[in-house]
Amino acid sequence: MLRSTTKTALSSVARQSTRSASTYGALHDFGTHHVNKGVGRLVPGIMEKGEGSYVTYEDGRKMLDFTCGIGVTNLGHCHPKVSKAAAEQCMKIVHSQNSISFHRPYLELIERLLPTMPDPSLDSFFFWNSGSEAVEGALKMARLMTGRKGFICMQGAYHGRTYGAMAVTKSKTIYSEGTGPLMPMVYTAPYPYFHQLGLSPDSTPEEHTRAALHQLQLLFKQQIRPDSVAAIIIEPLLGEGGYVPAPTSYLKALRELCDKHGILLIVDEVQSGFARTGKWWCIEHSGVRPDIMTFAKGLANGFPLSGIVSRKELTDKLKPGCMGGTYAGNAVSCAAAIAVCDAVKEEKILENVDVRSKQLFAALESLRSDPEVGKYLLDVRGQGLMAAIEFARPPQDIDIDLATEGVEGCPSNFAARVGKKCIEKGMLILTTSIYEVLRIIPALNVSEADMAKGCEIITQAVKEVAKEG
Ligand SMILES: Cc1ncc(COP(=O)(O)O)c(C=O)c1O
Repeated sequence: MLRSTTKTALSSVARQSTRSASTYGALHDFGTHHVNKGVGRLVPGIMEKGEGSYVTYEDGRKMLDFTCGIGVTNLGHCHPKVSKAAAEQCMKIVHSQNSISFHRPYLELIERLLPTMPDPSLDSFFFWNSGSEAVEGALKMARLMTGRKGFICMQGAYHGRTYGAMAVTKSKTIYSEGTGPLMPMVYTAPYPYFHQLGLSPDSTPEEHTRAALHQLQLLFKQQIRPDSVAAIIIEPLLGEGGYVPAPTSYLKALRELCDKHGILLIVDEVQSGFARTGKWWCIEHSGVRPDIMTFAKGLANGFPLSGIVSRKELTDKLKPGCMGGTYAGNAVSCAAAIAVCDAVKEEKILENVDVRSKQLFAALESLRSDPEVGKYLLDVRGQGLMAAIEFARPPQDIDIDLATEGVEGCPSNFAARVGKKCIEKGMLILTTSIYEVLRIIPALNVSEADMAKGCEIITQAVKEVAKEG
């Protein structure tokens, strides 16, 4: 029984919170009141429709989307073939629980994915819903497969916000602040990114590799012996940590170290996978073989679906029942993912990524050589259509960061202000990391005209922020 004072307090909250939500403005306020902080707050409004590279808000605003819902709607919003496949599957079977029986889309999706694998040894799949769940599964599998407990993750890494994933996430303190103790036996090595190694932005990938490997060797000598490490987990292109591609030499060296010490290499392709970087999988750029690979986001173009793939010889070590989940590998999401695989091939998406990437990087490089604003651009980087501009940080923020030493008068919050201006000019765009990084993640089938429009908005936004100082 509720005490009457509590009852009165609750009903007054209920009265406040059930205020009319029927009009656009009121419904938006209702959301602000009833939804956790941090949700729906970047661009005020209610998103109603998505078509290709554009989204429309209920108040009629149409925005060019260079976020793709954080790298998800790779084929554009509501791709007709994907939506059709999902709708048809809805009328056949929606939920066929994965422990009970196979369903056809689950198996046909594996048929589609097998030929895309970065190495033919990757032949045993498990589908889940979110990227974090795939990472949880990969960590759990690695301990079970090796009988070891240790993990090495990368400084700046993002792998998700569930407990295991949070323990190997090192991009911002907010993701795990106040929630510990986290999973133990996690050790952090620097990513081959100049900031983390005290190197200048002009340093070469070979210098990054050498410095990062040196730190890893120290970690093996001073923190955990390699024969206690179950797995090293890495994003081949650091995502939330700043959109930084790992040099091939570093990834190859990791593979060699893993082979030497019996450590599993977990490659997290949740953000970088599924054609985003111009190959099916980003790790293909290096030719390195993962032992376990995780993927999600672009896989089903917005339907919740993630996957873990490994070698059958390894997954056969897992006891039945240790991997599972009520909604894991949903039939509608799998049907959508099959349509994505087909569309990537039929619509020559990899070819489009290649040409649009060249167009994008040409525009970003011309911004870098612009006499007025070039001095604020510390780096332009990425692969395919996973690209970023890093701006120099203002001198007062430099602290221990050698990268912007000597840079004078760089305005504060540059990236966030550029992002805000882009939004005002009708384009959705995101920043990322603790540095001044603007990330550019358009649809992989973006047209030449929309890419040109997006580049022009970014260019104008950078110029205006530079002028305002
Ligand atoms: C590399 C990487 N791994 C894992 C995740 C977590 O995925 P999810 O948000 O679907 O749980 C993300 C999300 O951004 C990611 O970028």
